[in-house]
Amino acid sequence: MLLLFVAVLTGCQQTEEDKSFTIGFSQCTEGDAWRKAMHEEMEREASFYPELKLQIRDAKNSSQVQVEHIRDFMKQGVDLLIVSPNEADPITPVVEEAFHRGIPVIVVDRKTSSSMYTAYVGANNYQIGKLAGEYVAKLLNGKGRIVEVWGLRGSSPAIERHNSFAAAIAAYPDIQIVAEVNGEWEKEVAKRKFPAIYEQQQEVDLVFAHNDVMALGAYESIRNPQEQKRLKFIGFDGLGGPNGGLQFVQDGILDATFLYPTGGEEIMQLAYDILHGKPYKKENILSTTVIDERNVHIMKQQSDKILAQEKNIERQQHLLYEQIQLFNSQRTLSYFLLASLVGSIIMGALALLSLHAKKEANKELLARNNEVMQQRNEIARMAKKADKATEAKLKFFTNVSHEFRTPLTLILGPVEDALHSPISADLKKDMQLVKKNAIRLLRLVNQLMDFSKIDNKKMKLQAAEGDIVSFIKDITASFERLAQKRNIRFRLQTSMPELPVFFDTDKLDKVLFNLLSNSFKFTSDGGVIMVGLQVNEQHDKVVITVEDNGKGMSLQHAERAFDRFHTGEDSSNLGTGLGLALSKEFVKLHHGEITVVSEEWKGTKFVISLPLGQDHLKTEELLTDVGKNAIQLVPGVMEAEQQVTVIDAAPSADQSAHKEHTILLIEDNKELREYLKMRLDKSFNVIEAPNGGVGLQQAFGKVPDLVICDVMLPKQNGLEVTATLKNDLRTSHIPVILLTAKDTVEYKIEGIQSGADLYVTKPFSYLYLLERIKGLLKNRALLKEHYSSEISVETKTVSPPKQLDKKFMNEVMAVVEKNLSNPELNANSIAASLGMSKVQVYRKMKALLGFTVNDYVNNMRLKKARHLLLHTDRNISEIAYEVGFSSPAYFSTAFRNHFDMSPSDFKAARSSGQGSHVPQS
Ligand code: FRU
Repeated sequence: MLLLFVAVLTGCQQTEEDKSFTIGFSQCTEGDAWRKAMHEEMEREASFYPELKLQIRDAKNSSQVQVEHIRDFMKQGVDLLIVSPNEADPITPVVEEAFHRGIPVIVVDRKTSSSMYTAYVGANNYQIGKLAGEYVAKLLNGKGRIVEVWGLRGSSPAIERHNSFAAAIAAYPDIQIVAEVNGEWEKEVAKRKFPAIYEQQQEVDLVFAHNDVMALGAYESIRNPQEQKRLKFIGFDGLGGPNGGLQFVQDGILDATFLYPTGGEEIMQLAYDILHGKPYKKENILSTTVIDERNVHIMKQQSDKILAQEKNIERQQHLLYEQIQLFNSQRTLSYFLLASLVGSIIMGALALLSLHAKKEANKELLARNNEVMQQRNEIARMAKKADKATEAKLKFFTNVSHEFRTPLTLILGPVEDALHSPISADLKKDMQLVKKNAIRLLRLVNQLMDFSKIDNKKMKLQAAEGDIVSFIKDITASFERLAQKRNIRFRLQTSMPELPVFFDTDKLDKVLFNLLSNSFKFTSDGGVIMVGLQVNEQHDKVVITVEDNGKGMSLQHAERAFDRFHTGEDSSNLGTGLGLALSKEFVKLHHGEITVVSEEWKGTKFVISLPLGQDHLKTEELLTDVGKNAIQLVPGVMEAEQQVTVIDAAPSADQSAHKEHTILLIEDNKELREYLKMRLDKSFNVIEAPNGGVGLQQAFGKVPDLVICDVMLPKQNGLEVTATLKNDLRTSHIPVILLTAKDTVEYKIEGIQSGADLYVTKPFSYLYLLERIKGLLKNRALLKEHYSSEISVETKTVSPPKQLDKKFMNEVMAVVEKNLSNPELNANSIAASLGMSKVQVYRKMKALLGFTVNDYVNNMRLKKARHLLLHTDRNISEIAYEVGFSSPAYFSTAFRNHFDMSPSDFKAARSSGQGSHVPQS
């Protein structure tokens, strides 16, 4: 755009230039002041007409050179030719030629020999020659001798000036031209030639020179000043300025000069008219006059003024020129700015357009973005749905597992009972088969559950640092009996006494159980199974191997041994397949590796390697402290299974014992509830509840000694029931056993967090449960002892009292101590101050301390009385009332019953210094 604009501007300037005219000026010489003045005038005048381009060429007084110059101008194709001929004849032909070619020719000052030119500008030399003749005749008073100094003889002014001068003085016979000098218009030529001619002459009166500079040359050539003064000098031109004729007249060098105007302005004016087709005159004669001492002053003044004005004009022209230059550059600049502005506007428009386009694109992007967002939301919604579906699937699996476990408990319980009763050998065999298969079914259910969790990414590693050597020893120990029975050489080979490793007990337990089960399954009686444990060469891994010399596997089978859907050669072998696949997943969770090498009929070797240290584990893969406790408190599935499988415990010894404790059984499965009631009834008072709500009611009303509660209950689940019991002052002391099918560590932690004392996984052995119940009740009894005797019981098995129970005891103690002197203090008033019912306080006191509230108050009264008897001088009556007995007699009886000594005897013993025999509480 910008380029186009500049091009248009340049184009406009070109059109102006097309109108300009070239004027060629062939000058005979420009070596003197007169011609220099002429050029200045011409150039000044030309500057008013910018279209006139003046080219001046100097022939340097050579007619031949001048002819060449004119030819050059013609060739160049000038629009107009100006010629000031050096000599008339040599120049005439070329001027005529130009004229004939149609080039306008202006002849100035000197003439050609023909009239073939367009116009002439110059003074009339004939007229001024005549004027000079007449002036000289007057000056010489009609008599005198003259030396004439000629201009170039071939030039028209010289000829015409001479002829007319000679004609004018011809009327005066006493005036004679006595000699002639060829000055050739040049001062120096006249100065050089004049003396020789002059000295030949006698009594010369006047020097008549064809111009002022030759007159000056002649004047200067005369050495004698007197002679100079006496001689009269006449010249032509009358040029202004310091070297002009006016100055010579004013200085008295010349007597007179005749004005011969240079005519520069007139020449250019005429050229302009001709070129522009304006009317013009062919002969343009410039006026002339005589200048002598009479008018030289005024003429000089005028001339100086004109010169000054001319200088002024020149200065102004220069300024004007500068202004024009400035204007031009500013115009160019403004054009440029304009172009920039236009460019900016165009750019702006383009920017607007692109902005608009961008906006449109943005709109589209936004729309697309919205679309993508919607799609994303849709995906998120679907993912949530899928999550929910997964959740539901998992729940379904859990429920299914639960559904399996309860019947399995009900199968295994009676089977175990039967096995422990005197039955026929055949029936025992059958029962063992039932038991074996029930356990197998249980394991399958467990494995399916684990797969479901792995598939749903719910299976998380819960590693803690433990001694892997003792861990593996424990596991192998549980297989020892089987090995013995089947005469299999079974060893754990390791040189390490212990090795700390981060592992998940539950999962590694399952892995090893699986591998060992597998080995035992495929090794014939009398075979060998070796378990190895060592650290690798790099000392960064622990390597566990299980190797047997059993049936082994084919290469294809070994390759796919860990494939979940691969059952091997034996298509009914789903259990083993699942077990190995699950083992691989568990090892992977440990960031470890499991491989198998096997050869048919030679044996199989499983190799597990687990990284040492804990750098490979993420924080969420490490077990929290709560989890660790849970692990310690609760036996794992394996243990429970082994219990079921191997425990051969004798039936409870105290079946016939007095039923001291009451157990609340909350279980929704009627069959299981009835089965458990039937079994528990032998040792305890059993209260039943089919759901959480009824269970809680029973618990608050009857305050049992222990609660057994199923986790999966309708509405209020077992965890909620436990939490409610444990957070209520009335029931917080009651041990709770949770029964559940859920067997992962997380569920166990949840159970422990709810406040449960024990977590038993279904299916469980009744004997195992019974032992656990007894353990908890014993624990409670020890605690009771601890409270009531104030003797610190040195045992690890006593759980610390629960926060709420401590609070209860502190409150009871505070109420009792404060009101000890009040004989009205009893179970009723204490229950009222604690905001509980009398029964609740009674049961809780009994559970925690083993005796009634009234017994407790009585003990406290007596304890304080003993203290007062020991440390004060108060009498027995005073002390009796102070510790809240209604009469001293009653106090004495009670004191004797408790301490086996009357208060008075006790006091006497103290006074006699038998302090060591004082009774202790
Ligand atoms: C200048 C000049 C003038 C004279 C004229 C005649 O070159 O010599 O002094 O008047 O030429 O052409």
